[in-house]
Amino acid sequence: MNLLDYLPGVPDFPKPGILFRDISPLLANPAAFKEAIAQMEALAQSFDYTHILGIESRGFIFGSALAHHAHKGLALARKPNKLPLATHKEFYGLEYGSDYLEIQQSTLPAGAKVLLIDDVLATGGTLIAANKLLRNAGFEVCGAITLLEISFLNGRQLLDQHGIANKSVLV
Ligand code: PRP
Ligand code: MG
Repeated sequence: MNLLDYLPGVPDFPKPGILFRDISPLLANPAAFKEAIAQMEALAQSFDYTHILGIESRGFIFGSALAHHAHKGLALARKPNKLPLATHKEFYGLEYGSDYLEIQQSTLPAGAKVLLIDDVLATGGTLIAANKLLRNAGFEVCGAITLLEISFLNGRQLLDQHGIANKSVLV
């Protein structure tokens, strides 16, 4: 099974020049979704982690499935103004915009070792923001796993520069 067949590119979305990867066909196919999580889990096994951080919104899907599969705790990095209690915040730039990520301060226990999960690594801005968010809050970040890396955007090099070990199922 070639998982890329289930992640069709949609040209010029959400802006001209961007090739958007649609995860809907993969999620709608049980065998493809199962295989994607199995392959992410295989990569995750090389990390010593206690918790997964799922990044809103597409990272929630893969992060929650992986946390359930690997029997790890799940923390949520959310977009602005979604969380009721005190949060840590981090500004970030995207391939096509900018935003904030937040985690609720009470979510992770002291000593948590966190694996970052998202669907796609593009510029790396999202994962770098998540990494900063957790490190500034005093947590250890073990690394990052994505389903798909868009290699020509050089996100991997940026993550390397920030000391974030990262692996993707598809490059
Ligand atoms: C997309 C994707 C990753 C991020 C990758 O999320 O799901 O989270 O962009 O880009 P980067 O490596 O350049 O940061 P997006 O912010 O579009 O939102 P969504 O997950 O809510 O759809
Ligand atoms: Mg996202």
